[in-house]
Amino acid sequence: MELFDKIQAAEKYISSKVTPQSKIGIVLGTGLGALAEEVEIELTIEFKDIPHFPEPTVLGHQGKMIFGSIAGVQVILLAGRFHYYEGYTMEEVTFPIRVLSAIGVKQLVLSNVAGGLQEDLLPGHLVFLKDHINLQHANPLRGKNDERLGPRFPDMLKTYRKDLNQKALEFCEKMNIPARQGVYVALAGPNLETPAEYNFLHLIGGDVVGMSTVPEVIVAKHMAMDVFAVSIVSNKCYPIESITETTIEEVVAVANKASEQLLRLMKELLPLMN
Ligand code: HPA
Repeated sequence: MELFDKIQAAEKYISSKVTPQSKIGIVLGTGLGALAEEVEIELTIEFKDIPHFPEPTVLGHQGKMIFGSIAGVQVILLAGRFHYYEGYTMEEVTFPIRVLSAIGVKQLVLSNVAGGLQEDLLPGHLVFLKDHINLQHANPLRGKNDERLGPRFPDMLKTYRKDLNQKALEFCEKMNIPARQGVYVALAGPNLETPAEYNFLHLIGGDVVGMSTVPEVIVAKHMAMDVFAVSIVSNKCYPIESITETTIEEVVAVANKASEQLLRLMKELLPLMN
């Protein structure tokens, strides 16, 4: 079955349950989970009920698509995400983004946690993505291109909403939240990087490094969606002397702490995205 037909089947199922009215799709990555508690929920659809949706690997963590509104703005939330390092294909990782586009989403919001590759970036800082470097050894657009979905060679010049980054920075300054713009480097993972690798990523112009986001951004761009993405810095990766061992528990703890600030920020930005 062709990807296009899988997307159509998913779209048809969702449209039989709800008339999607939002142009804003939000992937609840690490740090944005708290947004799910702020939604005035209209309808929830489990990933497992949507044709061709990948199945979450973590038992008990059912993925959900949530339709509702936050601060009076209609949104569609994806609670649950698929990472390349989990073993999914790039088509699976990005299928939810394709479906969001098919149901009318034009503006994609993504969050992640990432290592800080600049001296001034400390755990808890926010970095609004202005660009990325893809060092994952796979690309979701590889293979035969379906022109119904997007062009063979999408241009990546204007990928991130820098106007929204600017608004986000103004808000952070007002609220005393440490933040700046930066370049996200994506690696396949799942191991964290060696000191030599962190140094290399710094030298090539990276500000933050992580294992997600870029496949979704590439597919969003392929389908002519706009992207706003934010990293929460969870660990310091530069200079080499300041790197300490990092555990997933520390990463999650930093993300949870920052998520309250991210929540306030999103409430401010969502009305500007419509
Ligand atoms: N490297 C890659 N991914 C990450 C890191 C890191 O240091 N921290 C959080 N996600």
